[in-house]
Amino acid sequence: MAKYLITGGVPLAGKVRISGAKNSALKLMAASLLSPRKSILHNVPLIQDVFTMADVLRELGAEVSIDSDRVEIDPSGELQDTAPYELVRRMRASILVMGPLLARLKRARVAMPGGCNIGPRHINFHLNGLEKLGARINVGHGFINVAANRLTGDAISLDYPSVGATENLMMAAVTARGRTVIESAAREPEIIDLAKFLTSMGASISGAGTSTIVIDGVEELEGATHTVIPDRIEAGTYMLAAAVTNGEIEVEGISPRYLELFISKLRAVGVQVKEFDNGVSCSGDGDYSGTDIATLPYPGFPTDLQAPVIVLLSLAQGHSIVTENVFENRFTFVDELNRLGANVQTSGHHAVVHGGCHFEGTIVEATDLRAGAGLVLAGLAASGQTEVRRIGHIDRGYEYFEHKLQALGADIERVESSKRSPSASLT
Ligand code: UD1
Repeated sequence: MAKYLITGGVPLAGKVRISGAKNSALKLMAASLLSPRKSILHNVPLIQDVFTMADVLRELGAEVSIDSDRVEIDPSGELQDTAPYELVRRMRASILVMGPLLARLKRARVAMPGGCNIGPRHINFHLNGLEKLGARINVGHGFINVAANRLTGDAISLDYPSVGATENLMMAAVTARGRTVIESAAREPEIIDLAKFLTSMGASISGAGTSTIVIDGVEELEGATHTVIPDRIEAGTYMLAAAVTNGEIEVEGISPRYLELFISKLRAVGVQVKEFDNGVSCSGDGDYSGTDIATLPYPGFPTDLQAPVIVLLSLAQGHSIVTENVFENRFTFVDELNRLGANVQTSGHHAVVHGGCHFEGTIVEATDLRAGAGLVLAGLAASGQTEVRRIGHIDRGYEYFEHKLQALGADIERVESSKRSPSASLT
Protein backbone atom coordinates (compact mmCIF):
# COMPACT_ATOMS: atom_id res chain seq x y z
CA MET A 1 0.00 0.00 0.00
CA ALA A 2 1.07 3.57 -0.64
CA LYS A 3 2.19 5.88 2.17
CA TYR A 4 2.61 9.55 2.89
CA LEU A 5 5.86 11.22 3.85
CA ILE A 6 5.17 14.43 5.70
CA THR A 7 7.60 17.02 6.98
CA GLY A 8 5.64 18.89 9.59
CA GLY A 9 5.80 22.31 11.13
CA VAL A 10 4.52 24.36 8.19
CA PRO A 11 1.54 26.59 9.08
CA LEU A 12 -1.00 25.84 6.34
CA ALA A 13 -2.50 28.84 4.60
CA GLY A 14 -4.80 29.56 1.68
CA LYS A 15 -8.12 28.40 0.30
CA VAL A 16 -9.46 24.91 -0.19
CA ARG A 17 -12.64 23.92 -2.02
CA ILE A 18 -14.68 21.14 -0.48
CA SER A 19 -15.68 18.15 -2.63
CA GLY A 20 -19.02 16.36 -2.76
CA ALA A 21 -19.97 14.30 0.29
CA LYS A 22 -18.86 10.68 0.19
CA ASN A 23 -21.66 9.65 2.51
CA SER A 24 -24.25 11.19 0.23
CA ALA A 25 -22.83 10.26 -3.18
CA LEU A 26 -22.69 6.54 -2.33
CA LYS A 27 -26.38 6.42 -1.36
CA LEU A 28 -27.50 8.45 -4.38
CA MET A 29 -25.64 6.05 -6.64
CA ALA A 30 -27.44 3.12 -4.98
CA ALA A 31 -30.79 4.94 -5.23
CA SER A 32 -30.33 5.33 -9.00
CA LEU A 33 -31.16 1.62 -9.27
CA LEU A 34 -34.75 2.37 -8.26
CA SER A 35 -35.67 3.60 -11.74
CA PRO A 36 -35.09 1.86 -15.06
CA ARG A 37 -34.08 5.25 -16.46
CA LYS A 38 -30.76 7.09 -16.47
CA SER A 39 -29.75 9.34 -13.56
CA ILE A 40 -26.96 11.90 -13.51
CA LEU A 41 -25.10 13.01 -10.41
CA HIS A 42 -22.86 16.08 -10.28
CA ASN A 43 -20.25 17.00 -7.67
CA VAL A 44 -19.38 13.35 -7.01
CA PRO A 45 -15.96 13.02 -5.33
CA LEU A 46 -13.35 10.93 -7.14
CA ILE A 47 -12.56 8.64 -4.21
CA GLN A 48 -12.08 4.91 -3.88
CA ASP A 49 -15.47 4.28 -2.25
CA VAL A 50 -17.23 5.90 -5.23
CA PHE A 51 -15.24 3.65 -7.61
CA THR A 52 -16.24 0.64 -5.49
CA MET A 53 -19.92 1.63 -5.59
CA ALA A 54 -19.60 2.06 -9.37
CA ASP A 55 -18.23 -1.51 -9.53
CA VAL A 56 -21.12 -2.77 -7.39
CA LEU A 57 -23.66 -1.14 -9.72
CA ARG A 58 -21.89 -2.53 -12.81
CA GLU A 59 -21.85 -6.00 -11.23
CA LEU A 60 -25.61 -5.64 -10.78
CA GLY A 61 -26.02 -4.83 -14.49
CA ALA A 62 -26.12 -1.01 -14.58
CA GLU A 63 -23.93 1.03 -16.90
CA VAL A 64 -21.89 3.58 -14.99
CA SER A 65 -19.69 6.26 -16.51
CA ILE A 66 -17.57 8.66 -14.49
CA ASP A 67 -16.44 11.85 -16.16
CA SER A 68 -14.72 14.18 -13.71
CA ASP A 69 -17.30 14.90 -10.98
CA ARG A 70 -20.24 13.78 -13.18
CA VAL A 71 -21.49 10.24 -12.79
CA GLU A 72 -24.08 8.82 -15.15
CA ILE A 73 -25.91 5.66 -14.12
CA ASP A 74 -28.03 3.76 -16.61
CA PRO A 75 -29.84 0.84 -14.95
CA SER A 76 -32.18 0.19 -17.91
CA GLY A 77 -30.77 -3.27 -18.71
CA GLU A 78 -31.58 -6.50 -16.94
CA LEU A 79 -30.45 -6.24 -13.33
CA GLN A 80 -28.89 -9.01 -11.26
CA ASP A 81 -29.99 -9.46 -7.66
CA THR A 82 -26.62 -10.31 -6.08
CA ALA A 83 -24.04 -7.99 -4.53
CA PRO A 84 -20.99 -10.27 -4.18
CA TYR A 85 -18.73 -10.63 -1.17
CA GLU A 86 -15.61 -9.31 -2.95
CA LEU A 87 -17.29 -5.91 -3.35
CA VAL A 88 -19.29 -5.73 -0.14
CA ARG A 89 -16.21 -6.58 1.94
CA ARG A 90 -14.33 -3.72 0.24
CA MET A 91 -17.01 -1.26 1.33
CA ARG A 92 -19.77 -1.78 3.83
CA ALA A 93 -21.95 0.90 2.23
CA SER A 94 -22.53 -1.63 -0.58
CA ILE A 95 -25.37 -2.99 1.57
CA LEU A 96 -27.27 0.16 0.60
CA VAL A 97 -28.21 -1.55 -2.68
CA MET A 98 -30.46 -3.90 -0.69
CA GLY A 99 -33.40 -1.51 -0.41
CA PRO A 100 -33.36 -0.40 -4.06
CA LEU A 101 -32.95 -3.98 -5.39
CA LEU A 102 -35.77 -5.23 -3.22
CA ALA A 103 -38.02 -2.41 -4.44
CA ARG A 104 -37.17 -2.91 -8.10
CA LEU A 105 -36.59 -6.68 -8.45
CA LYS A 106 -38.64 -7.86 -5.45
CA ARG A 107 -35.55 -9.66 -4.20
CA ALA A 108 -31.94 -9.02 -3.27
CA ARG A 109 -28.99 -11.11 -2.23
CA VAL A 110 -26.26 -9.17 -0.50
CA ALA A 111 -23.10 -10.56 1.08
CA MET A 112 -22.76 -9.96 4.81
CA PRO A 113 -20.60 -6.85 5.14
CA GLY A 114 -17.09 -6.58 6.48
CA GLY A 115 -16.22 -2.88 6.31
CA CYS A 116 -14.30 -0.48 8.51
CA ASN A 117 -12.34 -1.67 11.49
CA ILE A 118 -14.45 0.38 13.90
CA GLY A 119 -16.66 -2.13 15.66
CA PRO A 120 -19.19 -4.79 14.72
CA ARG A 121 -21.55 -2.48 12.74
CA HIS A 122 -24.58 -4.72 12.76
CA ILE A 123 -27.36 -4.48 10.19
CA ASN A 124 -30.23 -5.67 12.39
CA PHE A 125 -32.05 -2.31 12.11
CA HIS A 126 -31.99 -2.56 8.32
CA LEU A 127 -33.36 -6.10 8.36
CA ASN A 128 -35.99 -5.55 11.09
CA GLY A 129 -37.30 -2.54 9.16
CA LEU A 130 -37.47 -4.41 5.87
CA GLU A 131 -39.31 -7.23 7.63
CA LYS A 132 -41.80 -4.69 8.94
CA LEU A 133 -42.44 -3.68 5.32
CA GLY A 134 -43.22 -7.31 4.49
CA ALA A 135 -39.87 -8.65 3.30
CA ARG A 136 -38.96 -12.27 3.97
CA ILE A 137 -35.39 -12.54 5.16
CA ASN A 138 -33.06 -15.43 5.47
CA VAL A 139 -29.38 -15.48 6.12
CA GLY A 140 -27.13 -18.29 5.02
CA HIS A 141 -23.76 -19.08 3.47
CA GLY A 142 -22.60 -15.53 4.21
CA PHE A 143 -25.44 -13.91 2.29
CA ILE A 144 -28.56 -12.03 3.31
CA ASN A 145 -31.52 -12.94 1.10
CA VAL A 146 -34.52 -10.62 1.11
CA ALA A 147 -37.67 -11.01 -0.96
CA ALA A 148 -41.18 -9.55 -1.15
CA ASN A 149 -43.82 -9.53 -3.88
CA ARG A 150 -44.61 -5.94 -3.06
CA LEU A 151 -43.57 -4.16 0.08
CA THR A 152 -46.35 -2.61 2.13
CA GLY A 153 -45.89 0.60 4.09
CA ASP A 154 -45.92 0.42 7.89
CA ALA A 155 -44.72 2.29 10.97
CA ILE A 156 -41.08 1.53 11.75
CA SER A 157 -39.47 2.73 14.93
CA LEU A 158 -35.69 2.44 14.86
CA ASP A 159 -34.00 1.53 18.16
CA TYR A 160 -31.23 3.98 17.21
CA PRO A 161 -31.09 6.67 14.48
CA SER A 162 -28.89 4.58 12.21
CA VAL A 163 -27.89 6.47 9.07
CA GLY A 164 -27.62 3.39 6.86
CA ALA A 165 -30.85 1.79 8.13
CA THR A 166 -32.80 5.04 7.61
CA GLU A 167 -31.46 5.24 4.04
CA ASN A 168 -32.06 1.59 3.15
CA LEU A 169 -35.61 1.80 4.48
CA MET A 170 -36.35 5.07 2.68
CA MET A 171 -35.23 3.53 -0.60
CA ALA A 172 -37.22 0.34 -0.01
CA ALA A 173 -40.35 2.27 0.94
CA VAL A 174 -40.60 4.71 -1.98
CA THR A 175 -42.49 2.22 -4.14
CA ALA A 176 -44.15 0.27 -1.31
CA ARG A 177 -47.95 0.11 -1.16
CA GLY A 178 -49.27 2.85 1.12
CA ARG A 179 -47.58 4.94 3.78
CA THR A 180 -44.34 4.21 5.65
CA VAL A 181 -43.43 6.21 8.73
CA ILE A 182 -39.85 5.92 10.03
CA GLU A 183 -39.60 7.06 13.65
CA SER A 184 -36.27 7.82 15.37
CA ALA A 185 -34.84 8.33 11.90
CA ALA A 186 -31.32 9.67 11.39
CA ARG A 187 -31.30 13.43 10.75
CA GLU A 188 -27.98 13.83 8.93
CA PRO A 189 -27.77 16.31 6.01
CA GLU A 190 -27.03 13.31 3.78
CA ILE A 191 -30.51 11.94 4.59
CA ILE A 192 -32.02 15.21 3.35
CA ASP A 193 -29.93 14.98 0.19
CA LEU A 194 -31.16 11.43 -0.44
CA ALA A 195 -34.77 12.53 0.12
CA LYS A 196 -34.30 15.39 -2.38
CA PHE A 197 -32.89 13.04 -4.99
CA LEU A 198 -35.67 10.48 -4.46
CA THR A 199 -38.26 13.27 -4.65
CA SER A 200 -36.85 14.47 -7.96
CA MET A 201 -37.16 10.84 -9.14
CA GLY A 202 -40.88 11.07 -8.31
CA ALA A 203 -41.03 9.78 -4.72
CA SER A 204 -43.25 11.34 -2.07
CA ILE A 205 -41.25 12.01 1.10
CA SER A 206 -41.65 14.48 3.92
CA GLY A 207 -39.85 15.02 7.20
CA ALA A 208 -36.30 14.20 6.08
CA GLY A 209 -33.94 16.00 8.46
CA THR A 210 -36.32 15.38 11.38
CA SER A 211 -36.69 12.20 13.39
CA THR A 212 -39.98 11.28 11.63
CA ILE A 213 -39.87 10.58 7.92
CA VAL A 214 -43.11 9.90 6.06
CA ILE A 215 -43.06 8.17 2.70
CA ASP A 216 -46.11 7.61 0.53
CA GLY A 217 -45.39 4.85 -1.96
CA VAL A 218 -45.64 5.60 -5.69
CA GLU A 219 -45.93 3.12 -8.59
CA GLU A 220 -42.59 3.89 -10.24
CA LEU A 221 -39.71 6.33 -10.34
CA GLU A 222 -38.05 8.30 -13.13
CA GLY A 223 -34.36 9.04 -13.56
CA ALA A 224 -33.17 12.37 -12.15
CA THR A 225 -30.28 14.82 -12.20
CA HIS A 226 -28.88 15.99 -8.88
CA THR A 227 -25.88 17.76 -7.36
CA VAL A 228 -24.33 16.09 -4.30
CA ILE A 229 -24.06 18.24 -1.15
CA PRO A 230 -20.58 19.20 0.12
CA ASP A 231 -18.66 16.94 2.46
CA ARG A 232 -18.90 18.35 5.99
CA ILE A 233 -16.35 15.84 7.31
CA GLU A 234 -13.80 16.86 4.70
CA ALA A 235 -14.48 20.50 5.62
CA GLY A 236 -13.94 19.74 9.31
CA THR A 237 -10.67 17.98 8.50
CA TYR A 238 -9.23 21.07 6.74
CA MET A 239 -10.44 23.33 9.55
CA LEU A 240 -8.48 21.14 11.95
CA ALA A 241 -5.47 21.25 9.60
CA ALA A 242 -5.45 25.04 10.04
CA ALA A 243 -5.80 24.74 13.81
CA VAL A 244 -3.09 22.11 14.42
CA THR A 245 -0.52 23.87 12.21
CA ASN A 246 -1.32 27.36 13.59
CA GLY A 247 -2.26 28.36 10.07
CA GLU A 248 -5.18 30.09 8.40
CA ILE A 249 -7.39 28.28 5.91
CA GLU A 250 -10.50 29.42 4.11
CA VAL A 251 -12.72 26.43 3.50
CA GLU A 252 -14.97 27.16 0.52
CA GLY A 253 -18.24 25.55 -0.49
CA ILE A 254 -19.61 24.42 2.88
CA SER A 255 -22.42 25.97 4.85
CA PRO A 256 -21.36 26.43 8.51
CA ARG A 257 -24.79 25.25 9.64
CA TYR A 258 -23.69 21.68 8.80
CA LEU A 259 -20.94 21.99 11.41
CA GLU A 260 -22.50 23.99 14.24
CA LEU A 261 -21.44 21.87 17.20
CA PHE A 262 -18.03 21.17 15.70
CA ILE A 263 -17.44 24.91 15.27
CA SER A 264 -18.53 25.66 18.83
CA LYS A 265 -16.05 23.06 20.13
CA LEU A 266 -13.23 24.57 18.03
CA ARG A 267 -14.03 27.98 19.53
CA ALA A 268 -14.06 26.49 23.04
CA VAL A 269 -10.51 25.24 22.37
CA GLY A 270 -9.40 28.71 21.23
CA VAL A 271 -9.48 28.32 17.44
CA GLN A 272 -10.74 31.37 15.52
CA VAL A 273 -13.62 30.49 13.20
CA LYS A 274 -15.36 32.99 10.91
CA GLU A 275 -18.58 31.90 9.27
CA PHE A 276 -19.76 32.96 5.80
CA ASP A 277 -22.81 31.98 3.74
CA ASN A 278 -20.93 29.30 1.90
CA GLY A 279 -17.67 28.83 3.70
CA VAL A 280 -15.69 29.22 6.90
CA SER A 281 -12.26 30.51 7.70
CA CYS A 282 -10.28 28.94 10.46
CA SER A 283 -7.08 30.09 12.11
CA GLY A 284 -5.16 29.48 15.29
CA ASP A 285 -2.06 30.53 17.18
CA GLY A 286 -1.54 27.41 19.28
CA ASP A 287 -2.87 29.01 22.46
CA TYR A 288 -5.44 26.26 23.00
CA SER A 289 -7.13 24.72 26.02
CA GLY A 290 -8.77 21.31 26.24
CA THR A 291 -12.49 20.66 26.20
CA ASP A 292 -14.70 17.60 26.60
CA ILE A 293 -16.39 16.14 23.53
CA ALA A 294 -19.01 13.40 23.12
CA THR A 295 -19.87 12.05 19.68
CA LEU A 296 -23.55 11.67 18.90
CA PRO A 297 -25.82 11.27 15.88
CA TYR A 298 -26.41 14.51 13.95
CA PRO A 299 -26.73 17.30 15.03
CA GLY A 300 -24.31 16.04 17.70
CA PHE A 301 -20.53 16.06 17.32
CA PRO A 302 -19.72 13.81 14.33
CA THR A 303 -17.98 10.54 15.13
CA ASP A 304 -16.12 10.89 11.82
CA LEU A 305 -14.26 13.91 13.26
CA GLN A 306 -13.43 12.22 16.56
CA ALA A 307 -9.96 10.98 15.58
CA PRO A 308 -8.97 14.26 13.86
CA VAL A 309 -10.14 16.37 16.82
CA ILE A 310 -8.13 14.27 19.31
CA VAL A 311 -5.06 15.52 17.45
CA LEU A 312 -6.05 19.11 18.26
CA LEU A 313 -6.91 18.25 21.88
CA SER A 314 -3.48 16.65 22.25
CA LEU A 315 -1.89 20.01 21.42
CA ALA A 316 -4.20 21.96 23.75
CA GLN A 317 -3.27 22.64 27.38
CA GLY A 318 -5.02 20.59 30.07
CA HIS A 319 -7.05 17.40 29.97
CA SER A 320 -9.97 16.59 27.69
CA ILE A 321 -12.36 13.66 27.84
CA VAL A 322 -13.65 12.34 24.55
CA THR A 323 -16.62 9.96 24.68
CA GLU A 324 -17.39 7.86 21.61
CA ASN A 325 -21.11 7.06 21.61
CA VAL A 326 -21.64 5.95 18.02
CA PHE A 327 -19.16 3.17 17.26
CA GLU A 328 -17.44 0.60 19.42
CA ASN A 329 -13.72 0.22 18.93
CA ARG A 330 -13.15 3.62 17.33
CA PHE A 331 -10.07 4.45 19.39
CA THR A 332 -7.72 1.99 17.70
CA PHE A 333 -5.68 4.83 16.20
CA VAL A 334 -4.77 6.13 19.66
CA ASP A 335 -1.82 3.75 19.96
CA GLU A 336 -0.47 5.16 16.69
CA LEU A 337 -1.05 8.75 17.81
CA ASN A 338 0.76 8.04 21.07
CA ARG A 339 3.75 6.85 19.05
CA LEU A 340 3.89 10.37 17.62
CA GLY A 341 4.07 11.80 21.14
CA ALA A 342 0.43 12.12 22.21
CA ASN A 343 -0.65 11.02 25.66
CA VAL A 344 -4.13 9.55 25.26
CA GLN A 345 -5.51 6.81 27.49
CA THR A 346 -8.65 4.92 26.62
CA SER A 347 -11.10 2.97 28.72
CA GLY A 348 -14.14 1.54 26.99
CA HIS A 349 -15.75 4.31 25.02
CA HIS A 350 -13.88 7.11 26.82
CA ALA A 351 -10.51 8.61 25.95
CA VAL A 352 -8.62 10.90 28.30
CA VAL A 353 -6.41 13.24 26.32
CA HIS A 354 -3.54 14.68 28.34
CA GLY A 355 -2.78 17.82 26.36
CA GLY A 356 0.29 19.95 25.85
CA CYS A 357 2.11 17.38 23.72
CA HIS A 358 4.64 18.01 20.96
CA PHE A 359 4.34 15.58 18.10
CA GLU A 360 7.61 14.10 16.86
CA GLY A 361 7.66 12.46 13.46
CA THR A 362 7.90 8.68 13.19
CA ILE A 363 6.29 5.79 11.31
CA VAL A 364 2.57 5.24 11.92
CA GLU A 365 -0.18 3.18 10.31
CA ALA A 366 -3.70 4.25 9.39
CA THR A 367 -6.21 1.84 10.91
CA ASP A 368 -9.27 3.28 9.16
CA LEU A 369 -10.29 6.23 7.03
CA ARG A 370 -10.73 8.94 9.68
CA ALA A 371 -7.90 7.62 11.85
CA GLY A 372 -5.70 7.98 8.76
CA ALA A 373 -6.76 11.60 8.33
CA GLY A 374 -6.02 12.23 12.02
CA LEU A 375 -2.52 10.79 11.68
CA VAL A 376 -1.83 13.02 8.67
CA LEU A 377 -2.93 16.04 10.73
CA ALA A 378 -0.58 15.00 13.52
CA GLY A 379 2.23 14.60 10.96
CA LEU A 380 1.57 18.12 9.65
CA ALA A 381 1.96 19.44 13.21
CA ALA A 382 4.97 17.27 14.10
CA SER A 383 8.63 18.14 14.10
CA GLY A 384 10.66 16.13 11.59
CA GLN A 385 9.35 13.51 9.21
CA THR A 386 6.25 11.38 9.67
CA GLU A 387 5.53 8.37 7.53
CA VAL A 388 1.83 7.41 7.42
CA ARG A 389 1.38 3.90 6.07
CA ARG A 390 -1.71 2.12 4.73
CA ILE A 391 -3.11 5.29 3.20
CA GLY A 392 -5.44 3.21 1.04
CA HIS A 393 -7.85 3.84 3.92
CA ILE A 394 -7.57 7.59 3.30
CA ASP A 395 -8.05 7.17 -0.46
CA ARG A 396 -11.50 5.74 0.32
CA GLY A 397 -12.83 9.11 1.41
CA TYR A 398 -10.66 12.19 0.69
CA GLU A 399 -10.52 13.53 -2.85
CA TYR A 400 -7.09 14.82 -3.95
CA PHE A 401 -5.98 14.81 -0.30
CA GLU A 402 -2.26 15.38 -0.75
CA HIS A 403 -2.83 17.82 -3.65
CA LYS A 404 -5.19 19.96 -1.60
CA LEU A 405 -2.77 19.93 1.35
CA GLN A 406 0.19 20.75 -0.92
CA ALA A 407 -1.75 23.73 -2.32
CA LEU A 408 -2.06 24.95 1.29
CA GLY A 409 1.71 24.72 1.68
CA ALA A 410 2.05 21.29 3.27
CA ASP A 411 5.20 19.27 2.70
CA ILE A 412 3.51 15.95 1.96
CA GLU A 413 4.48 13.40 -0.64
CA ARG A 414 2.75 10.22 -1.71
CA VAL A 415 5.10 7.27 -2.11
CA GLU A 416 3.96 4.08 -3.77
CA SER A 417 4.90 0.99 -1.80
CA SER A 418 7.71 -0.20 -4.11
CA LYS A 419 9.76 2.98 -3.50
CA ARG A 420 11.93 2.86 -0.37
CA SER A 421 11.78 5.96 1.76
CA PRO A 422 14.71 7.27 3.82
CA SER A 423 12.88 6.53 7.06
CA ALA A 424 11.96 2.97 6.06
CA SER A 425 15.12 1.82 7.83
CA LEU A 426 13.45 2.71 11.12
CA THR A 427 11.34 -0.46 10.97
C1 UD1 B 1 -22.66 6.18 8.41
C2 UD1 B 1 -21.47 6.80 7.74
C3 UD1 B 1 -20.28 6.86 8.69
C4 UD1 B 1 -20.68 7.57 9.97
C5 UD1 B 1 -21.93 6.92 10.58
C6 UD1 B 1 -22.45 7.67 11.78
C7 UD1 B 1 -21.74 6.18 5.43
C8 UD1 B 1 -21.24 5.40 4.27
N1 UD1 B 1 -21.11 6.01 6.59
O1 UD1 B 1 -22.32 4.83 8.71
O2 UD1 B 1 -19.22 7.59 8.04
O3 UD1 B 1 -19.62 7.46 10.90
O4 UD1 B 1 -22.98 6.91 9.58
O5 UD1 B 1 -22.63 9.00 11.49
O6 UD1 B 1 -22.65 6.97 5.32
N2 UD1 B 1 -26.00 -0.23 14.10
C9 UD1 B 1 -26.62 -1.37 14.59
N3 UD1 B 1 -27.52 -2.01 13.77
C10 UD1 B 1 -27.83 -1.56 12.52
C11 UD1 B 1 -27.20 -0.40 12.05
C12 UD1 B 1 -26.29 0.26 12.87
O7 UD1 B 1 -26.36 -1.80 15.70
O8 UD1 B 1 -28.65 -2.18 11.84
C13 UD1 B 1 -25.03 0.47 14.95
C14 UD1 B 1 -23.63 0.45 14.35
O9 UD1 B 1 -22.93 -0.72 14.69
C15 UD1 B 1 -23.02 1.70 14.94
C16 UD1 B 1 -24.22 2.66 15.06
O10 UD1 B 1 -25.38 1.84 15.01
O11 UD1 B 1 -22.52 1.43 16.22
C17 UD1 B 1 -24.29 3.73 14.01
O12 UD1 B 1 -24.36 3.14 12.73
P1 UD1 B 1 -25.01 3.86 11.47
O13 UD1 B 1 -25.60 5.18 11.87
O14 UD1 B 1 -25.87 2.87 10.78
O15 UD1 B 1 -23.72 4.18 10.59
P2 UD1 B 1 -23.47 3.78 9.09
O16 UD1 B 1 -24.67 4.07 8.26
O17 UD1 B 1 -22.86 2.44 9.01
